[in-house]
Amino acid sequence: MKVNYRERIPNNVNLSDDRRLQRALESWQPKFLDWWRDLGPAIFQEKDVYLRTAVDVGREGWAVFDYVKLPEYRWGIFLAEPEPARRVGFGEHLGQPVWSEIPGEYRTELRRLIVIQGDTEPASVEQQRQLGRTAPSLYDLRNVFQVNVEEGRHLWAMVYLLHAHFGRDGREEAEALLERHAGDAEKPRILEAFNVETSDWLSFFMYTYFQDRDGKFQLAALRESAFDPLARTCEFMLKEEAHHMFVGATGVGRVVQRTAELMREHDTADVRPYGGVDLHTIQKYINFHFSVSLDLFGSERSTNAATYYSHSLKGRFQEPGRDDDHRLESTTYHLHRLVDGQMVIEEVPAILTVNEILRDDYIGNCQEGLDRWNQVLAEHGVSEQLRLPHRRFNRKIGAFSSRPISPDGGVLSEAEWTRRVGDWLPTEGDRAYIQSLMRPVYERGKVAGWLAPPRIGINGRPADFEYVLL
Ligand SMILES: [Fe+2]
Ligand SMILES: [Fe+2]
Repeated sequence: MKVNYRERIPNNVNLSDDRRLQRALESWQPKFLDWWRDLGPAIFQEKDVYLRTAVDVGREGWAVFDYVKLPEYRWGIFLAEPEPARRVGFGEHLGQPVWSEIPGEYRTELRRLIVIQGDTEPASVEQQRQLGRTAPSLYDLRNVFQVNVEEGRHLWAMVYLLHAHFGRDGREEAEALLERHAGDAEKPRILEAFNVETSDWLSFFMYTYFQDRDGKFQLAALRESAFDPLARTCEFMLKEEAHHMFVGATGVGRVVQRTAELMREHDTADVRPYGGVDLHTIQKYINFHFSVSLDLFGSERSTNAATYYSHSLKGRFQEPGRDDDHRLESTTYHLHRLVDGQMVIEEVPAILTVNEILRDDYIGNCQEGLDRWNQVLAEHGVSEQLRLPHRRFNRKIGAFSSRPISPDGGVLSEAEWTRRVGDWLPTEGDRAYIQSLMRPVYERGKVAGWLAPPRIGINGRPADFEYVLL
């Protein structure tokens, strides 16, 4: 299926054959562009940026690089190629042919899943809109814009599904996706983590490492869906998502590297006097972003997640590779719970713990970055290590919500939590220090002093390439 680039909305879904859908999307497009101008990147919208654009879903076409002005980016609608004779891989409909249309009885559930996913995409653009003012290099400036335009396209991906498959209420939901805004007092974004500003670049790297990785796992679970257009949309989004996590993994890695260099050079852990970010502060930012991301998976025990799974709407990570019945009818899972300050273990039917199973896979995947960052420390002769806090630490959702639990997982008294929380999570002072480092560096080939330069550039270009023409 070729992408039609002559149309106002580039697509590989034969939009020109469906006049009603085409009209609906063309009336939404100007609203999207208004939103992009008002709440997309706060500066440099008129500059040429070296960006990747998807012009086809095949190997050659999904990543074409050129200079583009942000509002002229070609946001298109792309579904991964259909898998011939694909069958449902889990739940009640296991083994049946997948659906190209939505069964009436699952309409509400599917709409909810698509709206929740869709809401996070523009939210992240809104959260990150001020970052262009303080980018540590042209390379990084280009990367935040790349992430932003692709999150914009992910919004398009969800809006396409709403318009194509949900009639009038789909169109209303598509409008509402542009009416809710991150941090808006009256109409906030649906998930709380998407309502806070990403106000500095250390937070941005943590965000793209941890929060975008939550996105990866949500998309990977939706890619298993029996509703084939959703599965194929998510499959294609995952290709773009990989770069966002690369930005996070290498971004944090470059901060860690610079810190290690300064620690060695000055023989001290306190690198702040030399303009670096001390490891303790990096650890606090990890603690914060990891715990916030864990909340995005929802409660450990969830009847909604069970329903999505048993109705074959949202599966598990890498569902086909799992060696079980793909129905979760007879398996159980051990959940922890605090009862009167004591940890108790309950054996729960696995179908009720689908969120927790996805969270397990996410945590394992997060650890890989930590291992790489620790390798950087070891290579510089630094014996300290970074680590993920316990999954129960600083949670706001689920069985351990607002419980005083240390990064080791130990249960504390409220008084002890209050006394020590400043050691574990960024304080006002830490945030003010990081903010003081946020000075833009827009000279070609130069990089701010608090992180190492990138090792390689984008698309085979050198690291000091002129990624944004200012
Ligand atoms: Fe996304
Ligand atoms: Fe992303």
